[in-house]
Amino acid sequence: RIVKRQIGCRRDINRLNGQFLSLYESLIPAEEEKAKQKQLLLLLEKHVAKEWPAARLYLYGSCANSFGFPRSDIDVCLAMEDADVDKSEVLLKLADILQSDNLQNVQAFLRVLISAIRRYAVNIMLEAFLVCHVRKALTRARVPIVKLMDPATGISCDICVNNVLAVVNTKLLRDYAQIDVRLRQLAFIVKHWAKSRGVNETYHGTLSSYAYVLMCIHFLQQRRPAILPCLQGMESTYAVTVDNTECAYFDQVEKLSGFGSRNRESIAQLVWAFFNYWAHWHNYANDVISVRTGSILSKHEKDWTRRVGNDRHLICIEDPFEVSHDLGRVVDKFSIGVIREEFERAADILQCDPDPCVMLFKPYVP
Ligand code: CTP
Ligand code: MG
Repeated sequence: RIVKRQIGCRRDINRLNGQFLSLYESLIPAEEEKAKQKQLLLLLEKHVAKEWPAARLYLYGSCANSFGFPRSDIDVCLAMEDADVDKSEVLLKLADILQSDNLQNVQAFLRVLISAIRRYAVNIMLEAFLVCHVRKALTRARVPIVKLMDPATGISCDICVNNVLAVVNTKLLRDYAQIDVRLRQLAFIVKHWAKSRGVNETYHGTLSSYAYVLMCIHFLQQRRPAILPCLQGMESTYAVTVDNTECAYFDQVEKLSGFGSRNRESIAQLVWAFFNYWAHWHNYANDVISVRTGSILSKHEKDWTRRVGNDRHLICIEDPFEVSHDLGRVVDKFSIGVIREEFERAADILQCDPDPCVMLFKPYVP
């Protein structure tokens, strides 16, 4: 592989600021969407409380981390007091309740689907005769979920059980987003690019939106002067222990609102530098990016040098709390090539194309 290293950013890069900012504005969901999501959550809470009075429902993922696009699915975590509860049983029971109960506005249309996610995105309609298949799918899924669709509002909702780490990492992302608006701008543009180019599909071996947002946070921690701090490296003002994992960091982010102001890079410069970094500068052979430490770690110190089962470490992104979890582990021998070619393509377009925004987000057609 001949790696072409771009040295300087094109001189007229700031000309693209306006286009990137309008794209960002167009991708922010409307306020009414939040209200609809709340309504659905309240309805769910009412039904859950009847069966499990001590359980709590939390939103997580893009509907709560401030990196959500309009009309995205909402992710809900049902947190039960009993940590060892059989998740499949709870989800089957929940599906049953939602289906048979009188859910006022959702009622007649409610279809409960089960999704066995990760490599196989299988949706199976929940009907009595399918229950045993559904149970099997639930048991096999890495994160078993019940998928609920409400065609009346167009909202689709994934419910999982006791995935509290996801609720905590959602808060971490939301807190980072409040420090400097350039994080949200960059992450929306990168997510939009990844979705347009077909490299945001974990079941096809490319990266999750969560991974892309972590890449953006890490990138902004690494700018000089830094645009984002490393919240987990500061004195903690928030601490919880989830599944024996200690999650602690500085969460009084309102006190950090001027943090990045010494760095005056524009969004166009940052988008250019982000793609250039992943196309030409990242050391895929040795490096692990780590938001937790705000630095680069080595694969060697993480012991991520070998393939274990299906998990390879061809691009390494450390989860901020589950530190043994590499978000790049879904990437395989083939998809790493696809991802790197897409980074190179994006960097080339940003460097040379007279009107880069058209080509950059051009939908990928196989
Ligand atoms: N998550 C996680 N570990 C992963 C993938 C996801 O903990 N390996 C959790 C994170 O809390 C993340 C949430 O699941 O915020 C949803 O992940 P994902 O769908 O990748 O991100 P969204 O922000 O929901 O993006 P999208 O708009 O594409 O739905
Ligand atoms: Mg999501």
